[in-house]
Amino acid sequence: MKGIILAGGAGSRLYPLTLVASKQLQPVYDKPMVYYPLTTLIEGGVREFCLISTPQDIPRFRQLLGDGSRLGVSIEYREQARPEGIAQAFRIAADFVGNDAVTLILGDNIFWGGDVFQQAFSRFDGGAVVFGYHVHDPDRYGVVEFDAEGRALSIEEKPKAPKSNYAVPGLYLYDNSVIQIARDLKPSARGELEITDVNVEYLRRGTLRVFKLARGFAWLDAGTSSSLHEASAYVQTIESRQGIKVGCPEEAAFRRGLLSLDRLVEVAGTLPRCDYRSYLEGVISEARRG
Ligand code: G1P
Repeated sequence: MKGIILAGGAGSRLYPLTLVASKQLQPVYDKPMVYYPLTTLIEGGVREFCLISTPQDIPRFRQLLGDGSRLGVSIEYREQARPEGIAQAFRIAADFVGNDAVTLILGDNIFWGGDVFQQAFSRFDGGAVVFGYHVHDPDRYGVVEFDAEGRALSIEEKPKAPKSNYAVPGLYLYDNSVIQIARDLKPSARGELEITDVNVEYLRRGTLRVFKLARGFAWLDAGTSSSLHEASAYVQTIESRQGIKVGCPEEAAFRRGLLSLDRLVEVAGTLPRCDYRSYLEGVISEARRG
């Protein structure tokens, strides 16, 4: 399964923070925002990535993540010259996806808790898989309505009168037909190629599955100043209580077997003395103890 991280957009809601660095490069507590979605996909077993961002920001992402070899993955970069909607990602990255299945994650979506995504990735066998998460303000999102058996009945983008409290988070799994579906899409009333329209098409074909995310699961959105601050506070709370890091791609790559212990030692050795390096050294000594 190929992986796309969409890290474009003007980030205008975070202005002036985003004047010099894109939203997905802003710190969420102790690391750049994009580390979190990257870690989520590495945990899901994705090894080949395409990161899509604006022409101005791609050099900065490259500086941060390089070609991915430090993490035992490959990362390619593609430009989104104009933000024309999430589904535009499949047009931009069509050659990267080739004939494979693909997962798309939004660069400002932070997930934490459980192994529901790992299971969804390993069990994926075609069609589309998306998720439903209970929120208090569904009108800000794609909203999924379920029947009594938990099957999806409808999905609507930012509805004025939401039919449920279940928002669709920014992590989607698709078979290869998504490429053609995205090619055939028409822009919505707000002028965007909507990811919701892609999901509606899979629903129409009868090949969309929607899994509800359990209560203990956290989906944080870091797109406004308040939610960015809340996400940082959440991550800090978990990290200081548990002594584990949320969104540490080196650790995820090591646990997935993409980095050997020796390679992790090497990677940690390239970092300056800092909390992040001490953490990786802790992971290393724990692994050595077995
Ligand atoms: C986008 C999607 C929406 C989805 C949300 C998740 O909204 O259009 O369906 O629920 O991401 O973060 P946007 O970020 O464009 O407001």
